[in-house]
Amino acid sequence: MIRTGRRRNDPGRRRVLTAGLAALGGGISLMMPPRSCAAQAVALRRLAAERGLVYGTTISAAQINNDQVFVDLVLQQAGLVVAENDMKWQDMDRGEQGKDDYGPADTVAAFALENDLVLRGHNLLWYYRTPNWFFDLATRQDQERAVVEHIQRLAGRYRGMIHSWDVVNEPIEPKDGRPDGLRTAVFLETLGPEYLDLAYRVARETDPSARLVVNEYDVELDTPDQETRRTALLSLLERMQRSGTPVDAVGIQAHLSCSGSPPFSPSRLRRFLADLAGLGLTIQITELDVTDENAPADPVMRDHLVADTYSRFLDAALDEAAVKVVVTWGLSDRHSWIVRRETNESKWRSDGVLPRPLPFDADLKPKPACEAIANALVHAPSRAAR
Ligand code: XIL
Repeated sequence: MIRTGRRRNDPGRRRVLTAGLAALGGGISLMMPPRSCAAQAVALRRLAAERGLVYGTTISAAQINNDQVFVDLVLQQAGLVVAENDMKWQDMDRGEQGKDDYGPADTVAAFALENDLVLRGHNLLWYYRTPNWFFDLATRQDQERAVVEHIQRLAGRYRGMIHSWDVVNEPIEPKDGRPDGLRTAVFLETLGPEYLDLAYRVARETDPSARLVVNEYDVELDTPDQETRRTALLSLLERMQRSGTPVDAVGIQAHLSCSGSPPFSPSRLRRFLADLAGLGLTIQITELDVTDENAPADPVMRDHLVADTYSRFLDAALDEAAVKVVVTWGLSDRHSWIVRRETNESKWRSDGVLPRPLPFDADLKPKPACEAIANALVHAPSRAAR
């Protein structure tokens, strides 16, 4: 049973609904470029919905329980939420197989349900967040059983509630040297590449209404390495389709930097997205953020560079009608993995100045990045929602 966190009729929810209704009835033309994200009418969720898109952000149980003003901003701006960490296997693990703690994940799921938000599932398997005990399972049979049971429990618990599951997160790593470009980490080592087929089949059986996603990073920019990753990802998807392995969508993480290096080529990205669409898959931008590790410290300058990066990326990405979802990896600089300096050290600033990677600043004020996203949504071609 899922515990409920916030109630539908609480004051925060009412405020948001009232603001949303006022914006709807106010006759404000969304054809006009938005002037400021502070205006209720340009809530990113509404601009996205106008184009058949869904816009969303990460959230956590801790934020839901402890940061009401931030939660109000999420309800105002986002049509979708995804647990930043609370549904990751290692985060739920309590040191023993089959004894995971679903409390925080339930809080996120209940929050989405009560507030009519689309809920993404992130993720069923990720080599980087696998419980320690899994590495001690010596036989193929034991590992297979653990993978199947985990997917059945987690996807089964939220069956019917999840819009899309990142079934396997980050399966590609050409640097590992395999001809197929697959990452030779935990699951592949004992189970072989078929672990992917197993995971997607069990996910489909367990929650038939969830779209099943392959989520990958470093496939956005114009470098030989990223081109190799794109090629490996395309071949994996083709291979899965040939084997009858269910896959519906590709997640493009899009952790970008405003430094301009490595270079970004809009036409190269468009071609890649068209290739994915050509396989009959939909596309989700799943973890967009723009770090400023090499930008000058001046916040005005940095905000400009970050916003410009959002614009150039989204203008190209949203041209492709197969793109249905845009998620930023957080909504406010108050809660960003880069600001918290958890992993990905290459994206941290060396001068100690706080990074400004997300659409709203740490005081929840909209930044130029928010306007950049709003403008990209307003100018995006309309598409059939999915
Ligand atoms: C990150 C979280 O944001 C951090 O809080 C955590 O410490 C590590 O994971 N790719 C992914 C996400 O698929 O799950 C990662 O999230 C960021 C990179």
